[in-house]
Amino acid sequence: MNKVIILAGGQGKRMKADMPKPLFKVLGEPMLEWVISACESSGLSDICIVKGFMGEMIDEYLGGRYKTVLQAERLGTGHAVMQAVPFLKEDESGHTLVLCGDAPFISSTAISEALVIHKQQKNAVTVITAELDNPFGYGRIIRTPGGISGIVEQKDATDEQKQICEVNSGAYWFRTADLVELLGKLDCNNSQKEYYLTDTISIALSEGRNAGAYKSENADIIKGANDRKDLLELNTYAKNAIIEKHLENGVGFVSTDGIIIERDVEIGAGTEILPGTIIRRGTIIGKNCSIGPNSVVENCKLGDDVKLNYVQAYDSEIESGVKIGPFVHIRPNSVIRSGAKIGDFVEIKNSTIGEKTAIAHLTYVGDSDVGKKVNFGCGTVTVNYDGIVKSRCVIGDNCFIGCNTNLIAPVKLGKSVYTAAGTTVTRDVPDYALAIDRGIMKINEGYTLRKLKPKE
Ligand code: UD1
Ligand code: CA
Repeated sequence: MNKVIILAGGQGKRMKADMPKPLFKVLGEPMLEWVISACESSGLSDICIVKGFMGEMIDEYLGGRYKTVLQAERLGTGHAVMQAVPFLKEDESGHTLVLCGDAPFISSTAISEALVIHKQQKNAVTVITAELDNPFGYGRIIRTPGGISGIVEQKDATDEQKQICEVNSGAYWFRTADLVELLGKLDCNNSQKEYYLTDTISIALSEGRNAGAYKSENADIIKGANDRKDLLELNTYAKNAIIEKHLENGVGFVSTDGIIIERDVEIGAGTEILPGTIIRRGTIIGKNCSIGPNSVVENCKLGDDVKLNYVQAYDSEIESGVKIGPFVHIRPNSVIRSGAKIGDFVEIKNSTIGEKTAIAHLTYVGDSDVGKKVNFGCGTVTVNYDGIVKSRCVIGDNCFIGCNTNLIAPVKLGKSVYTAAGTTVTRDVPDYALAIDRGIMKINEGYTLRKLKPKE
């Protein structure tokens, strides 16, 4: 079976933060996750990640999804791969892809096309390369009439070699059995006193094994980040690429200011995204919606003709024709049924809101099942938590909840129930009843005249 080794030992000193570099995020996801996704979409799942600096953070992030191995000392890319030799020896019959954990745009196309060449040419190693306008800092590919003869690092290159624009992406396919043998032959006789993985190419050739290069047309696969400025560039690049894809699909943007759409978001044609809007992974948005300004939508499913204005919505479903906002928080596990209207300063959590229900202002609905065409007065609170347990409220169809009603859960209102303004509902209310809970209002005549002695 084919294997993958992802090198993620780097610190990224210039990021100036205590975190392994591959965990820095591009569009909300660690660079390492982008690399893992490229592997997964190429059908590769036998992955081992080489960790180093603050490696425990890599384990914590992965949560056991993939194997990791520790490179205790940072002695170069070749040394990093050596740490994974036991992983390679589990099955030496196939091929192994080596990738950098801090080059997020490696594509599944480059991975699969390189493997085809690798197998056709019967190579021990095939390096993935690209042409760069400014190749400074990268390993240069030394071509010969018959193929390639090796890779020379910037620091070891002659002036003539520095003119070469074809560079090493840091991604390679190896025949696994060859990789294990070649790693045993690396030394650190170079300007950086490191074990260079790149030396496997010249060693393979010197022993009569085949080595080749696959040149990707897409130079972006090489892009990486060494400092915050680079990281911002990667984010900008990824953001624009994704917005472009949505434009092609008929999604509208009057401006892209402050708009971030993460990977794997689906948006229907005719939908308009307004400035300051962040749409996170796992979100599906229907047609002709208007999202924003200043909204965050994470892992939600939206129908058609939905309008969100200054809304934060997480892990929820919002059906067609729903209008929400401004200043609304839809918390996880909520379902807002079609045609519902939710207005300013409303929070909904773990609740179902029925069709055409209106919750116009200043209301908290938590752990509740609300029927159709219910009207919530301003300032309604579902009192779902008594400090020990959370309980549910059930509100039937066509109820009319008066302003400032408290519903002390667990409690159930039947259908077409009225509650008088200011009522605290502590018992179930049957269908068609009015719940009213008022003290007796007194009027104390002349009170302010006696108490405050007003000037007029
Ligand atoms: C390496 C290549 C260079 C290539 C470039 C592409 C070598 C010798 N050079 O250079 O030809 O153009 O990548 O970006 O391989 N890492 C470890 N442990 C180490 C050293 C590195 O895990 O001891 C990891 C880093 O975290 C990173 C990757 O390996 O993910 C590449 O390391 P880096 O130091 O960036 O290599 P370069 O010198 O840039
Ligand atoms: Ca690098």
